[in-house]
This record gives sequence, structure tokens and C-alpha cells, in this order.
Amino acid sequence: MKALVLSGGTGSRLRPITYTSAKQLVPIANKPILYYGLESIARCGIEQVGVVVGETANEVMDSLGDGSSFGLEITYIPQDSPKGLAHAVLISKEFLKEDDFVMYLGDNFILHGIEGFVEKFKRSSGDINAQILLAKVSDPERFGVAVLGEDGTVLRLVEKPKVPPSDLALVGVYIFDKEIHRAVRAIKPSERDELEITDAIDWLLEDGLIVRSSIVEGYWKDLGEPEALLEGNRLALELLVGKIEGTVKEDSFVQGRVVIESGAEVLGSVIRGPVIVGANAKVINSFVGPYSSIGPNCLVENSEIDYSIILKDAVVKDVGHMEGSIVGKAASVLRRGSKPSALRLVIGDKSRVELP
Ligand code: G1P
Repeated sequence: MKALVLSGGTGSRLRPITYTSAKQLVPIANKPILYYGLESIARCGIEQVGVVVGETANEVMDSLGDGSSFGLEITYIPQDSPKGLAHAVLISKEFLKEDDFVMYLGDNFILHGIEGFVEKFKRSSGDINAQILLAKVSDPERFGVAVLGEDGTVLRLVEKPKVPPSDLALVGVYIFDKEIHRAVRAIKPSERDELEITDAIDWLLEDGLIVRSSIVEGYWKDLGEPEALLEGNRLALELLVGKIEGTVKEDSFVQGRVVIESGAEVLGSVIRGPVIVGANAKVINSFVGPYSSIGPNCLVENSEIDYSIILKDAVVKDVGHMEGSIVGKAASVLRRGSKPSALRLVIGDKSRVELP
């Protein structure tokens, strides 16, 4: 079995955070979203992975390299414009050949991975042609939606229906056998001018082929929006195993599950976990509260931070209380005057916010 990981797209919903980053590389608990997926794929025993890349190809390639650090062998497949998930399969034929494959949307965060889902397919391999992962959602009109028969087999799929026939959304993990290649060649572009994988799977059903489904276990989210990113960060930190590799000075207090990475320094501060402080970051005279991720090389000084993501190289200084916030790479949030403040903000990479 192979894997096809989709890492194109522009991440417009995460703006301003993704003006300069691939959305799949935005970190949660200081680790890019995409790495969680690749690590799970590796745990499934899959080695050959095709990564479909678009506009942000260079960033993705720099980050993943040849895949050896994940125990994978990565082949990059360029997609010149985002023409849809089924188009990604179409252009990956040479890599996929006739092998079964898992297709995984790189901005998906599935807390407990896909091992169980892949196992299930392997057990019935030869009897089914596709398997889809579903989750119950409150806003099915934003997704591909499945209609299941009484025995749980898939009867029909619709992409972003105005009137959803069920609340079961496609989460963006699929397994296919070779039949999908006929389907992606047969379908026509949708209203949004994309070749939809949902239509391709529906084509399989109409052709009499067998599609099964699983309901996702544990938390799943497409981390397309800042609120979801913060929530994903919270859940990833929930699984954190505390480890202090950096320096915590005696004048500081660290409580709960906290990771202080090597080279990081904590001075005159209170850190209440779950919290991760990245390599070479400095936390000075500050409070860092639960579910916060401070990226590598950040400076947090004279500030209180709760439930926030501070990306690498950012500076947060003299800020009163900051909560539910995302600070982009190399951005700075500073307070010039003495007016106390309570902040909730999302600021992009390399931006600067000065408070009165
Ligand atoms: C895509 C799929 C949709 C699926 C969703 C999951 O939508 O087309 O069927 O439910 O991913 O995130 P898109 O993100 O392209 O709007």
C-alpha cells in the first residue's frame, strides 16, 4: 500500500497566518500539522508516499526532505493549480500505479491517527474498492456528505450540499484500489471548477463497486480556521509528556506537564502546563498558562499568556494578558505605554503590533 498526501492549496481561511506559510506546516504543539499525518502513515507500515505540492512546494520540500526522517520515501508530485482532489489522483497515476493507496489531506488533524482505519481496509482487501473516513459534524454543508445504508455501507455522496442529506462529513482520509483511476478520468469538473473526489467515489458507487465507511475515533478537525487551530493545539498538548531539557532558573515555577526544549530558558516566571516552550526560546518575568505553545527562538517577557500559539522567532513583550491568540512567525506584540490590556488576537508572520 502507498499513500498520497495532499499538501497544495493556499490556506486562505487561516489568513493572515498562512500568507507566508503552507497551511499544512503551521505547527500545533510546535510540530507541523502535516507531520502528525506522516508519522501515522509510517506507523501503518507504509513506506512510499507521494506528496502533491502546489504554490508552497519549496517550503513543503524543505521541511520534509526525502522523508527519511519519518522512515518514508517521498516522491513529490507538482500540481500546477488547485484543480481538485480527484485531479491530484489523476496526475499521480505514474506514482500510484495499480496499488492500493491511502489519500490523506495534509491539513487534517486526526488525534489518534489512521492506523485502525488502514487495518480495517487491509482485513477486507479484495472485497471492497474504497473506504472513507467520516465524522458527525454540526455544519455538514461545508463538507462532502455521505448517506449510509442500514448496514453502514455507503449509498451516496454529495459535495457541499445546500440541504445536507445527513450529518456525516468526509474528513479527508480515503483508501482506494485501482478502480479510482477509471472514476477520476470519467467525472467532469464541479460548480467550483474542480474535479471532486466525492464525485469520483459516487461514480464508483453508480458503477456497482463497494465503498465502506468508518467513523473517526477521537478528535478530528480540518485546521482551516484559527479557532480550530487553537483547539487542535489544546488536544495535542493534552497528550504531552513533560520533559525539561532547557534551563528553569530557581526563581521560576513549573507546574503540570511542561516541555522545555533544549536551549530554552525560563527566568522569574510561572509555567502552568500543558505547555511547550520551543528550543532556544526565552520566557522572562511572565506567566504562561495551560494549552500554550511557544515556538523556538521566541521571547516572552513581562507578559501573561493563556491558551495561545506563538510561532517561532516571535516576540511578546510587556503585554498584559493575552488569551486565545495566534502570533505569526517572527511577529512582535509590544506595549509601549503602561495601559493594562487584555488581548485576543491573530497576527500574521513578521507583523508588528504596538499597544499604547
Ligand atoms: C475537501 C473535500 C470534502 C471534504 C473536506 C474535508 O473540501 O472536497 O469532501 O469533506 O475536504 O476537509 P475542501 O477543503 O476542498 O473544501
